[in-house]
Amino acid sequence: MNLHVLYSPLWNTIKPSCESMSTAFAPGKAIIFGEHAVVYGRPAIAVPVKQVQAQADVEPGGTGTGVLLVAPNLNRTCTLSDAPPQDALRAIVESTLTHMQVGVPPDVTITVTSTIPMACGLGSGTAVSVAVARALAGYFGVRLPDEVVSELAFEVERIHHGRPSGIDNTVVAYERPVCYTRGQPVEMLTVGKPFHLILADTGVCAPTRISVGAVYRNWQTDPQRYDSLFDRIAEIAKAARVLIENGDPVELGGLMNENQQLLREIDVSSPELERLIAAALQAGASGAKLSGAGRGGNIIALVSPEVSSSVEEALRNDGAKGILATEVS
Ligand code: PMV
Repeated sequence: MNLHVLYSPLWNTIKPSCESMSTAFAPGKAIIFGEHAVVYGRPAIAVPVKQVQAQADVEPGGTGTGVLLVAPNLNRTCTLSDAPPQDALRAIVESTLTHMQVGVPPDVTITVTSTIPMACGLGSGTAVSVAVARALAGYFGVRLPDEVVSELAFEVERIHHGRPSGIDNTVVAYERPVCYTRGQPVEMLTVGKPFHLILADTGVCAPTRISVGAVYRNWQTDPQRYDSLFDRIAEIAKAARVLIENGDPVELGGLMNENQQLLREIDVSSPELERLIAAALQAGASGAKLSGAGRGGNIIALVSPEVSSSVEEALRNDGAKGILATEVS
């Protein structure tokens, strides 16, 4: 998509509309069905996790002549031009300014904070990109369409991730449950009946690039086997979509377990993930699986309100480093 067609060339002369601070937020996310297979064109389902979020503040006064980037969580302060060319923050700032046809970077300070744990499949980097793009556009008095924000964040994902499907930037930018298939229009899901998920962190940092790369090598070695596994995951995601939209969430548990079995077969589970999955199921969750790239990061468990606290307790006892409960609605 050519993002520039959405705006008129008059924006060449774009100026900040006000000299006050602009703030934007973006949620975390969880993939509930179809990770990895989605990279190969199969559908996947993801939901925003609004209990955690990234925040970007853009305020007047930066380096005196340009942008100052401040990330207190990372103990980092630098000018835009001093940041490495491949730096994610630099990339989203530059692509947002380019998109808005702002020739000279404004004299502002961009401060980024986040409560989303990093590198564990909750979309922390994507949320930072989305928040920065929105806050920076907001500083110029512009509300960027979700579609544009999603595209801008996708470009940054590409730098770090190599082969992103686009599901992360989509669910984070739209802040709605989505059924996503690469190269097709985004489909928003209507949730027939709310359901509850518990997310539990193994504490194992697992960069997405590594696990996506490993799956890619396996797929190249044995495309027939992997394509058939991806097809089976696609069937599960499609069946899950029907259950979610029809308001039949209890049945989702079985599909989560089946999806997890296929994720084991494509070799992206790990002993730490399996331990938390077993703990959740034993404590009464109706389904549990890894979420995101795997080999670490988070599991998600489907729970009824009655078993929610015992599942949380079991996960904590079995070594979960962080726990989040969220309602999908
Ligand atoms: O960013 P993560 O860890 O949630 O993983 C993204 C999901 C994958 O399907 C593994 C990769 C992708 O781009 O869809």
